[in-house]
Amino acid sequence: MKKLEEYVTSIPDFPEEGIIFRDVTTILEDPNGLSLAVDGVRQMLEGVEYDSVIGPESRGFIFGVPVAYAEHKGFIPIRKKGKLPREVLSADYALEYGTATIEIHKDSIKPGQKVVIIDDLIATGGTIEAIIKLVEELGGEVVKICFIMELAGLKGREKLAGYDVESLIIYEGK
Ligand code: PRP
Ligand code: MG
Repeated sequence: MKKLEEYVTSIPDFPEEGIIFRDVTTILEDPNGLSLAVDGVRQMLEGVEYDSVIGPESRGFIFGVPVAYAEHKGFIPIRKKGKLPREVLSADYALEYGTATIEIHKDSIKPGQKVVIIDDLIATGGTIEAIIKLVEELGGEVVKICFIMELAGLKGREKLAGYDVESLIIYEGK
């Protein structure tokens, strides 16, 4: 059987020259690839005590929801600005050019609630750093952070020092 990394397609010079884009769509399109990714994250969570899975739009939804469903946990969506209908808490984070804003429903986390964050990729770590801020401002606790892929050359992990971070595939470059 193929390994998970064999289901990732690496596209040179996308979206710009010099960047290798690690495309997860070929994991998703294959039933074995999808199982390896979802079950790989479920294995990371063995023995972890938590209440909810949380993940950012849009690729964090793709991997977070099947894990939450399989583990019989709820899923808390983090969305880009202006999409959530109830009262929200917002956090800004840096993009390569400019900033972006993500939001969470204020009532989706109760004080003391333990959450696991799931996303497809850690690059600079800015997205996850912003999610941690939102969770902690609402009194929640981040007990584990799981990625399908990590671009280790961008050193995103340094932003997450002190947290339990695990990735199924680690690329040494950017
Ligand atoms: C991508 C990826 C991660 C994030 C990682 O999402 O899915 O969520 O970037 O980058 P960082 O570690 O530098 O923050 P993107 O914002 O492109 O949106 P998408 O998931 O909707 O494609
Ligand atoms: Mg994303």
